[in-house]
Amino acid sequence: MDRTKSLLAVWTILQLLVLTVNGQSTCESHRFANNLDFTQCSPLQALGSFLHWTYNEQNGTVSIAFRHPGTSSSSWIAWGLNPGGTQMLGTQALVAYTNSSGQFQAYTSPINGYSSIQRGSLSFPVSRISATLVNGEATIFATLELPPNLITTNQVWQMGPLSNSVPQGHPMTGDNMRSTGRIDFRSGQSSASGGSGDRMRKRNTHGILNAVSWGVLMPMGAMMARYMKVFTDPTWFYLHIAFQVSGYVIGVAGWATGIKLGNDSPGTSYSTHRNLGIALFTFATLQVFALLLRPKPDHKYRFYWNVYHHTVGYTTIILSIINIFKGFDILDPADKWRWAYIGILIFLGACVVILEPLTWFIVLRRKRRGGNSVAAPIANKYSNGVNGTTTGPHHQDA
Ligand SMILES: *[C@@H]1O[C@H](CO)[C@@H](O)[C@H](O)[C@H]1NC(C)=O
Ligand SMILES: *[C@@H]1O[C@H](CO)[C@@H](O)[C@H](O)[C@H]1NC(C)=O
Repeated sequence: MDRTKSLLAVWTILQLLVLTVNGQSTCESHRFANNLDFTQCSPLQALGSFLHWTYNEQNGTVSIAFRHPGTSSSSWIAWGLNPGGTQMLGTQALVAYTNSSGQFQAYTSPINGYSSIQRGSLSFPVSRISATLVNGEATIFATLELPPNLITTNQVWQMGPLSNSVPQGHPMTGDNMRSTGRIDFRSGQSSASGGSGDRMRKRNTHGILNAVSWGVLMPMGAMMARYMKVFTDPTWFYLHIAFQVSGYVIGVAGWATGIKLGNDSPGTSYSTHRNLGIALFTFATLQVFALLLRPKPDHKYRFYWNVYHHTVGYTTIILSIINIFKGFDILDPADKWRWAYIGILIFLGACVVILEPLTWFIVLRRKRRGGNSVAAPIANKYSNGVNGTTTGPHHQDA
């Protein structure tokens, strides 16, 4: 195996992952030109828009910035609240477009007909309304004084063409028909009205991928290394690699879905679960690097490598199981899923209880029959489980 090439490959994969994670967080990384800062941000699920806001508990005001990249001087944009439904009709809207004097103007419009978006006062006071169009990115700023029933309500956003500086009807297909959802200014949650099923599906996918990889494949891979060695040498080594590598690949996919879920709902943070997940990803990646960098079995540093490999490996497995239960608490699936996973853990635990003494028995018996050097028991205690032989696959592939 050419280690330089393998390291390069792992490094490239890592870079790609970092890029993916960064790409998802355009919400948080956005900087406003006028130094404005908002505590919450939500990528809206249609028309590539974003809503940034700060909710002020004391006086019930919320300052917002509705951002729509990809706005030309011949289109209008609008965002608003509609307690009565999820359509434009009845929406208390903020509208912006480039008017006939070439200025990007913003105004309020209570939308009460499909034919126009006329200026007018909303059902609640609005102050500091303004809009900018910079490099094709339009933003409407405003401060809303919301009555209690509008703290959690429906939001609607829209865009359409202008004709002679007059807004025309928006397309009645695709994203223009999906641009509506719930918003909770207080808790910071924004979700698609029809899309919560989609989000649920993503959360379930995240849960299954991670429970299978970190929670089942990786512990089984460790057991292969520890208990199969006395029976099948060198098959155990390839089984160990196969389980850990497939666990890592599926685990990274599950991890990426988790990071995406977190970025898509910045208002809701499960920081312990997220931080443990990031730590686990780091540990597992270190193990992949460790595999590529491991010294030959008779190398003087191999002992330290073994100690390191086992410490990181067992820590990863224990933290994984903890994080899977934290995930169960967040996802809160039907009890049967939690019990199914507990059942798998009990099964794996039972295997350990049976195989651990059996392995020691075989190792000690082999040792009594002689043939091993004095150093072997210590070396092997930390080598790969409790094997009594010194020949291993490392001689062939290292
Ligand atoms: C609400 O409170 C914030 C912060 O204390 C303040 O900046 C804002 O002007 C207040 N708005 C109103 C309408 O009282
Ligand atoms: C265009 O918008 C600017 C800024 O809001 C405003 O001052 C100007 O009067 C508007 N022009 C027309 C023709 O409405």
